[in-house]
Amino acid sequence: KNYQVVIPAAGQGKRMNAGKNKQFLLINQIPLLIHTLRVFEEDLLCDKIILVVNKEEIEQMKRLTSQYAIKKVEKIVVGGSERQESVYEGLKAVQGNPIVLVHDGARPFIKQPIIDALVDSVMKRGASIVATPVKDTVKQVSKEYIHHTVDRTSLWAAQTPQAFRHEQILRAHEHAVKVGYTGTDDASLLEHNGEKVYIVPGDYENIKITTPEDLIFGEAIIKSRKEGNK
Ligand code: CTP
Ligand code: MG
Repeated sequence: KNYQVVIPAAGQGKRMNAGKNKQFLLINQIPLLIHTLRVFEEDLLCDKIILVVNKEEIEQMKRLTSQYAIKKVEKIVVGGSERQESVYEGLKAVQGNPIVLVHDGARPFIKQPIIDALVDSVMKRGASIVATPVKDTVKQVSKEYIHHTVDRTSLWAAQTPQAFRHEQILRAHEHAVKVGYTGTDDASLLEHNGEKVYIVPGDYENIKITTPEDLIFGEAIIKSRKEGNK
């Protein structure tokens, strides 16, 4: 039942507009990435963390993980210019345990029971991702003109973690490189090959810290957890 996790943290954080990689921004006085790493540090089923970083940030990342006593980081590998490349680099560094999760460094609020359900699903059914039902009414638009309203009942918003057998997702990434396919998440690389990927219902707290207001939402989530509204 154990797994390893690849955590891509090699972005630039452009939409955050903070002038540096958002992974280092403080939420409740602790760096964003440390919040995320702590979840896996504390999960007994997680054996190893493969952390993917920018080349210029290796030393800073090492200092941070030792300062916050994150012990499961087995390897720190250098990412690429796109998230997909970064994940691929991480997957190439994975050894051992066949179950691999991929989880964004920028999603610090993933809850333990959801990780448990995801790991359960990948073992029993195969490749699985955490997702939530879409709440908004979604319009198909071109040139500010609405073509139609998409039927929402079958729409789910993909999150991470996403869980796979190591060889399956590694093969999918290799294939994607070969044919020049870029997907917006890891599951799409399997879907692209007609392979089945299952959904595990997540929750709306598992936001990706992307734009400045997400830092405010993040502080609010932590505050509500402290008050016991788990
Ligand atoms: N990521 C990565 N390598 C990249 C791009 C992104 O490892 N070349 C990571 C980010 O660090 C983040 C996760 O993938 O943890 C999700 O990406 P995103 O939220 O888009 O982060 P950034 O790319 O840093 O932000 P932006 O797109 O606004 O520049
Ligand atoms: Mg990005």
